[in-house]
Amino acid sequence: MIDPKHSLSRRVFGGSVLALGAIAASKTVAAVELAPTPDQAMGPFFPIERVADEDADLTWIKGHKKRADGEVIQVTGRVLDRYGNPVSGARLDLWQCNSLGRYAHANDTATMPLDPHFQGYASIRTGANGDWRITTIKPAAYDSPIGKRTPHIHFDVQGKRHRLITQMYFSDDGANNSTDRLYQDLGSSAERALARLSGAGKYDWNIVLQDAG
Ligand SMILES: [Fe+2]
Repeated sequence: MIDPKHSLSRRVFGGSVLALGAIAASKTVAAVELAPTPDQAMGPFFPIERVADEDADLTWIKGHKKRADGEVIQVTGRVLDRYGNPVSGARLDLWQCNSLGRYAHANDTATMPLDPHFQGYASIRTGANGDWRITTIKPAAYDSPIGKRTPHIHFDVQGKRHRLITQMYFSDDGANNSTDRLYQDLGSSAERALARLSGAGKYDWNIVLQDAG
């Protein structure tokens, strides 16, 4: 997992453990500001028509007897403000294509089939420590008018004072990431949009909002 506090303290204080302790004790000091998660295009497929189920497990729709097709993954993380404070109660709306690269959206003219058992969208809230978790299907790469898109999940994050619209990528998709125009356009901030593989089918990704929670 990326630890923004650690990388920041290294930059500002040259790795001093004592300085890091001082930072933790005064969490609103401007010098400890974290680099924010980069904002990115919302894209054309924000779900207008939603299924009845919007919970954190996108692989099962309530009342269905079959799970969605594809590789089941878990993504966990925290929402932090730029001082490293957890943002509790933040709303995360997220949406993605299915295991074959198709969005459940009228604007998606791709010919890959829809998966009637894939939720495709979730709306969740962060917990007391800014923590969140989803279970979903690994999205596929897909062709688009701007070139092949690497696997990604779209996020709309609403804290108390700041809203971030962005896209999350996967650390084990290096080849696809290297040819994705939107990912490459992020430049040096691309790694802050990258969920890290932390175990079989498990990814970690922290979101840093630009403003205080
Ligand atoms: Fe997309």
